[in-house]
Amino acid sequence: MDTMVGMKRSCLCAEPTLADAGKELTLMGWVDTIRNHGGINFVVLRDISGIIQIVFDAGDKALADKADTLGREYVIAVRGVLRKRSEDTINPKLKTGEVELRVTELRILNESETPPFMIDDDIDVSEEMRLRYRYLDLRRPVMQKNLKLRHKVTQIARSYFDENGFTEIETPVLIKSTPEGARDYLVPSRVHPGHFFALPQSPQIYKQLLMLSGMDRYIQIAKCFRDEDLRADRQPEFTQIDLEMSFVNEDDVMSVNEGFIQKVFKETIGVDVALPLPRLTWQEAMDRFGSDKPDTRFGMELVDLSDICAGSDFKTFADVVKKGGSVRAINGKGLGDKLSRRDHDSLVDFVKTYHAKGLAWIDVTETELKSPITKFFKEDEIKAILERTNAEVGDTILFVADKNSVVYQALGALRLELARRFDLIDKSKFNLLWVTDFPLFEYSEEERRFVAMHHPFTMPKDEDLDMLDSDPGSVRAKAYDIVLNGVELGGGSIRIYNSDIQNKMFEKLGFSQEDAEERFGFLLTAFKYGTPPHGGMAYGLDRLVMLLTGSTSIRDVMAFPKIKDSSELMSKAPGTVDEKQLRELHLAIKETE
Ligand code: AMO
Ligand code: AMP
Repeated sequence: MDTMVGMKRSCLCAEPTLADAGKELTLMGWVDTIRNHGGINFVVLRDISGIIQIVFDAGDKALADKADTLGREYVIAVRGVLRKRSEDTINPKLKTGEVELRVTELRILNESETPPFMIDDDIDVSEEMRLRYRYLDLRRPVMQKNLKLRHKVTQIARSYFDENGFTEIETPVLIKSTPEGARDYLVPSRVHPGHFFALPQSPQIYKQLLMLSGMDRYIQIAKCFRDEDLRADRQPEFTQIDLEMSFVNEDDVMSVNEGFIQKVFKETIGVDVALPLPRLTWQEAMDRFGSDKPDTRFGMELVDLSDICAGSDFKTFADVVKKGGSVRAINGKGLGDKLSRRDHDSLVDFVKTYHAKGLAWIDVTETELKSPITKFFKEDEIKAILERTNAEVGDTILFVADKNSVVYQALGALRLELARRFDLIDKSKFNLLWVTDFPLFEYSEEERRFVAMHHPFTMPKDEDLDMLDSDPGSVRAKAYDIVLNGVELGGGSIRIYNSDIQNKMFEKLGFSQEDAEERFGFLLTAFKYGTPPHGGMAYGLDRLVMLLTGSTSIRDVMAFPKIKDSSELMSKAPGTVDEKQLRELHLAIKETE
């Protein structure tokens, strides 16, 4: 094996241009591909910047023989003279397509075993394989591009928020377990037997305390940990761009963040974002899209037909309305011909996974209305339904009747499913919007109590404060989410800064006085020493970068992600530890069924 001694890299592989022709250059990188044409080796050399063609003429036999020994992914250094390619071999698609390096010296810095897959953007290989050899997967240009864009976003965040008076402050990773909704990752303490640290689900409490400390504006690119079931846009450890501001209201937080979003889109992918961003209240988002993270790139909005159905002879629908639920529909525009009987059946099964009891439909054809339910309706009721859903020949109206939460969920999901099946989404759009005025609580059927919709530190709307006792379900919060193309990109709120309201909130959430004292005593005490009004938000950095790069999974924008069962395939974490480590931590492993 050769060494680099006496050689210094002149530039990166993809940097030389025609203007450098005639210069002697030293390049270093990986052997991407090798072709032999009439005894001449043409090698494509790759590094972070891209690729360049290097040529080993047959004239120098020793050099040509050495070039013959090269294999894919060998690491080499070459010295040579840059020259213009012959006209017929110019590759206009390549940045270095007009030039090639005629090699005079080759050093093999390291050999490589044959990689398990091609280092190429278009590979057909399982994600499992890619993750097992992640370091090779990350050699692929598309992955390097993703990581570089991610870096760019964090650089923009740092500079933008710095310019706006924010200070970057690190908060601890070993903390006390606090309730943010997900399950904690725990770290046993060696020094304190039976005691545990938790890894932060977010820096929420610390950033609020920093406002109390008078830091005024805080930002952190923060690692967060949540032991929850994974999905394409969820990882057990992920990164937030986390911020908090003092003496602000909702508009202040939203407006400084709109500036940030506009800058990020312009400087990373050249997209102009028009400000201010549209805003929908939570109620409006649910009524129109059946979702608190609506994808507004296509129509098919929900239509409320409860009033029309309430008086109809279709008992199923009338009863639902009587019990406080609703009947809503979406108009599958032009889908009449496209939805076969079998499609209808599969859509019924689809909405049933969201607990809907059925999916009624009306097909509007040239000559008639085809439907299992029109027989239950009077003529004027049908007319009203068709009018309100904007029905035209060729449309299919799809109905769900149930309690509101089920109707929203089922139709919201159906809307997305139809858009997916019939390719209704314009992928070039970036539809950003705010969803505001979330409910403060949601009722957990499982736990039979109210839980915080956002987190327990969110301030109720001033005008709803007096409903905290009488009608907690109707209290709205000073909370907002930023949504992009149907993905929750970030969220935040104005916080409670008064210990009485905070105590009341804990009480409503079912924490006993002692429990609250034990877990958040420090926060409640802190609130007694002059807390400024404050609020903030956090973005999911991984999600933001996923959408900016057009990736379908956040795993593609994280260097070393975990898989569905929360393990990491390359290092095989989590792993077992030895007895001694367990003993030091005062732990013993007990088999459970
Ligand atoms: P929240 O829990 O809404 O708010 O999280 C903020 C944003 O973080 C992203 N996110 C995730 N990304 C990847 N994997 C996950 N498991 C995951 N969970 C959340 C989402 C989400 O919008 N402390 C508050 C913020 C605040 O109030 O200031 C918080 O953590 O994009
Ligand atoms: P049924 O009278 O139960 O046979 O239902 C007639 C039609 O209404 C069928 O197409 C069912 O799928 C549909 N349907 C029944 N219950 C509901 C419901 N809660 N919401 C929407 N459609 C329903």
